Amino acid sequence: MNKKQQVAERKTFAIISHPDAGKTTITEKLLLFGNVIRQAGTVKGKKSGKFAASDWMDIEKKRGISVTSSVMSFPYENFHVNILDTPGHEDFSEDTYRTLTAVDSVVMVIDSTKGVEPQTIKLFKVCRMRGIPIFTFMNKLDREGKEPLELLSELEEVLGIESYPMNWPVGMGKNFLGIIDRYNEEFVHFTGDEKEEKMPLEQLQQSELKDHPQLQSTEEELMLLDEAGNQFDEEKVMKGELTPVFFGSALANFGVHSFFDTFVKFASPPKPRKTDDGLVSPESETFSGYIFKIQANMNPAHRDRIAFLRVCSGKFERGMSVKITRTNKSIKLNQTQQFLAASRETVDEAYPGDIIGIYDPNIYQIGDTLVGGKESIQYRELPQFPSEMFRKVRVKNVMKSKQFKKGIEQLVQEGAIQLFKQDATEDIILGAVGLLQFEVFEYRMKAEYNVDIEFTMLGDKLPRWLPEPPENKNIYDSRNILVKDRYDRYAVLFESEFTLRFFKDKYKDIELIDLLESNDYKSL
Ligand code: G4P
Repeated sequence: MNKKQQVAERKTFAIISHPDAGKTTITEKLLLFGNVIRQAGTVKGKKSGKFAASDWMDIEKKRGISVTSSVMSFPYENFHVNILDTPGHEDFSEDTYRTLTAVDSVVMVIDSTKGVEPQTIKLFKVCRMRGIPIFTFMNKLDREGKEPLELLSELEEVLGIESYPMNWPVGMGKNFLGIIDRYNEEFVHFTGDEKEEKMPLEQLQQSELKDHPQLQSTEEELMLLDEAGNQFDEEKVMKGELTPVFFGSALANFGVHSFFDTFVKFASPPKPRKTDDGLVSPESETFSGYIFKIQANMNPAHRDRIAFLRVCSGKFERGMSVKITRTNKSIKLNQTQQFLAASRETVDEAYPGDIIGIYDPNIYQIGDTLVGGKESIQYRELPQFPSEMFRKVRVKNVMKSKQFKKGIEQLVQEGAIQLFKQDATEDIILGAVGLLQFEVFEYRMKAEYNVDIEFTMLGDKLPRWLPEPPENKNIYDSRNILVKDRYDRYAVLFESEFTLRFFKDKYKDIELIDLLESNDYKSL
């Protein structure tokens, strides 16, 4: 098969959701369809005490959550599917955001009994910023939930994205009869036994179900959608401006298979990616990719580090020599792996869209570009994501200051946590996207550097960067703390939206940069 076909076949995506919406359940179904697992319950088992195959670290086992974002690859139909798992727990981390830069499409799972929830909004913003296709699965139709039309208007009002229902539910909860598949023009009867009974729409009109009261109200809704709803527009889907919506139930395995079949058809193949010198096409001959995540100590017995690389162009072959653009050093890639949760297999070749794990003898940094040819390429895919919560940190025993410094340096470089220094006091402030990052930091400082630390809570803050060093430092105080980030760039940590607005009104000349809104990663 030629390279062009290999690229076109790749469907690399992540599933995003608020905790408990059903992400794990759906992932498991997709793995079943792909024959990766044979039995339900293999991936999941929070309550049964079994742990997901992707739980590598002790801390995950203790809490039964997934700290690491693992990658699952398998062939499906005519495609090669790569699912990047994003930690779905309340306390997720920057890794979740970074993972989203490595995918080409996203599946957003929404609990139809709850609607759009906070974590979904955060993750959605990052996908939006990247303009990638977003497919929505409205889950838990077997339960009494919000009205479908209400759910669609939430998408438009809360997230600001247009939607097009690919199917439409007939009833819900106890009265859930099935779905009308608008795309395939068929009715799928919900029988509750994980078997899907499909019939063409004309046949439905002749069947005994035709007088069902649920069906009549559905027909009215469908007419409304046909008349007043959005049109399906593939171009808009590709730009992430319109989300195709699928209703179903992951637990009952209803609507998931047809969702996935349609999804793989429309999901984006690898696209050209931004570098310092313009776009690089996935079909370009030169191998290139960037590291979006580094996982330390995946195997505590070996204290190894694995760098996760997204292949962006060319073909990867094991044993090839590549150059790290940042350091201009060459390295031979021999120890490379592909992932299926905890089992890692040696990978001999990989194509754009694939994720490979590279053994890291402490030479890579998050954001590094690796290039196979003589060209110098630096991808610009990894923005710095703004931390949301902050803590001061100090070492408990001053005798351990040296290890403390080393530990912070390495963990910050690895991207586990963000480092700031309070300008006035030089106090060390750590910033994180999720609480879990502090826990992992504390745990690793103890486990790997033998250092006990002490946190002082600073709470949630809104960080804004200053493009220029401040002229007057006296205007900053404990409500708007002036800090420097690890690159010595000035930023201000605002206590609340209110303090931020107040500051903006008072000092109209001071430019403040919000990293989530500044689409130009080079603006800083
Ligand atoms: P997450 O990864 O997004 O956090 O969600 P997960 O799949 O773990 O699902 C959260 C809960 O919702 C689980 O129940 C799961 O069984 C349930 N669930 C998922 N999909 C559906 C659905 O379509 N319908 C219904 N009714 N429930 C669904 P749990 O009681 O928390 O866990 P467990 O005891 O089932 O393991």
